[in-house]
Amino acid sequence: MNTRESTAPWWQDAVFYQIYPRSFRDSNGDGVGDLRGIIEQLDYLNDGKNNTRSLGIDALWISPFFRSPMRDCGYDISDYKDVDPLFGTIDDARELISACHARGIRVIIDLVLNHTSDQHPWFQASASDPDGDKGDWYLWAPRRPNNWIAMLELKSAWWWDERRQAYYLATFSREQPEVNWRNPAVREAMYDVVRFWLEMGVDGFRLDVINWFIKDDRLRSNPWHFKAVPDMFQKHIYDRNRPETLDICRELREISDKYSNTPDDDKVLVGEVFTDDADIAASYHGNGNDALHMAFNFEFLWQKWDARAFHDAIQHWYAALPEGAWPNFTLSNHDQPRHYSRYMPAFGTRDYRQRIALARARVAAAMLLTVRGTPFLYYGEEIGMQNVPLKRHEIQDPLGQRLSFLTRDKGRAPMQWDAGATAGFCPEDAPPWLPVRPAGTQANVEAQLDDPDSLLGWYRTLIRLRRQEPALRQGQLQMLCDGSKQVLGWRRHMPDETGTRDIVVLLNFANRTTPLPDGQVDTGTVLAGTHRDTGEAAHPAELLPHEVLILGQ
Ligand code: GLC
Repeated sequence: MNTRESTAPWWQDAVFYQIYPRSFRDSNGDGVGDLRGIIEQLDYLNDGKNNTRSLGIDALWISPFFRSPMRDCGYDISDYKDVDPLFGTIDDARELISACHARGIRVIIDLVLNHTSDQHPWFQASASDPDGDKGDWYLWAPRRPNNWIAMLELKSAWWWDERRQAYYLATFSREQPEVNWRNPAVREAMYDVVRFWLEMGVDGFRLDVINWFIKDDRLRSNPWHFKAVPDMFQKHIYDRNRPETLDICRELREISDKYSNTPDDDKVLVGEVFTDDADIAASYHGNGNDALHMAFNFEFLWQKWDARAFHDAIQHWYAALPEGAWPNFTLSNHDQPRHYSRYMPAFGTRDYRQRIALARARVAAAMLLTVRGTPFLYYGEEIGMQNVPLKRHEIQDPLGQRLSFLTRDKGRAPMQWDAGATAGFCPEDAPPWLPVRPAGTQANVEAQLDDPDSLLGWYRTLIRLRRQEPALRQGQLQMLCDGSKQVLGWRRHMPDETGTRDIVVLLNFANRTTPLPDGQVDTGTVLAGTHRDTGEAAHPAELLPHEVLILGQ
């Protein structure tokens, strides 16, 4: 592993990049991405030599690649200790981890421990033998005990099993039965999975829906709540966020800490706390950060394009975090529409909408990569990938198959490596698992790789700057321009060997020239900017439309 100059834990300094393995790169021509495809493209992500053509990310989060019937694209696991043949072999996983480590890239993998696939041998045993040792590994009831809902099916979460003549709980799709985390044997089996992958050398885990692990011991019905998305008209007090869940986070932390000796080899736990309530998500860090290292902060996913909205979301997250916890931010993931599309104006000519979307993507990238906290990128955002329009029959997401307008597949399209018919994702005679559209645009790696003014070039600039400037990673953050709807800004401040280092970040969300409030910014040297040259001295009184200006002081 590369030695770092920073003494902070590596995951606080890192830029993470999420790979949805079905969609990154197909190495064997079956139209589905795989682990060898990721290995082939590692130099693009970080070649370990600080090559300017590499993106420069520090860590990967790889969505599930375990053995699975793929009813929920791999979030339904039938063997936690094997790789699905669609993605390769366990040796490919081993090779991927060591190839990443050789380049200084850390790898966290996505463990789905709230539920298994209904094809998992544990569930098969539980269904067919109530008195056997797995009889109590899932949640069974003679009749539907409450009103809980299956998120991907939009109906009752209790499903009839003929063999056992009872209902089991599955709160995503019927093929994803919930395990009984109150059973110590289940816990031990799950912890064994965790150890298996730690022994294999992974650097941590993204823990799927960690806040759903424990259910109310009396299986009470949730009260009614006037909110359709994401709550499905229920206040989820009995099927999520039960207080005992934090004990599990602490147990997981204890295990992963045993594999961590220095800040440089921490095994990091990043939990998906499935909620739109930042305070609930933040609580999963525990007291003094003894539970998860990071609970995903989804605040940026819901904000409209408005500087004040982002300002408040950032402040809200910082305020919600318990003492000692470290922030994180993300703009897109595999469950959400891509932010490039979210922030495209709804009206105007095609050219205008595309131009504004690109300008906003630059502003958004600078926000994500300079705010205090660990940034998580989603594959393809660095080249401006957009939602892909899909016909009903093309949808594979179980949610989208029920309600096509809700499909998550629109943000899961194959990575666009070039402008060819299959975007260089798979051979042209192998239809990709989801359609590639639109071909022939600039939103591909080949078109941007050698262009420093491209969006990809901008991401590379920002990531490099972040790496060079400890203040951008660890420095304190003081908001500037409070209350402005147009300009979001902050000062990052850090003592260094020669005194202090201040970096001022100014982001114009508006498509017009916007004056800066008096007295908040004085002279600085441009470290990076969309409209000014690096190295130039600047004393800005205003920002140009969608200008990003990062000044060193
Ligand atoms: C998480 C995943 C999502 C999946 C669900 C069930 O929310 O991000 O993709 O469908 O869990 O595992």
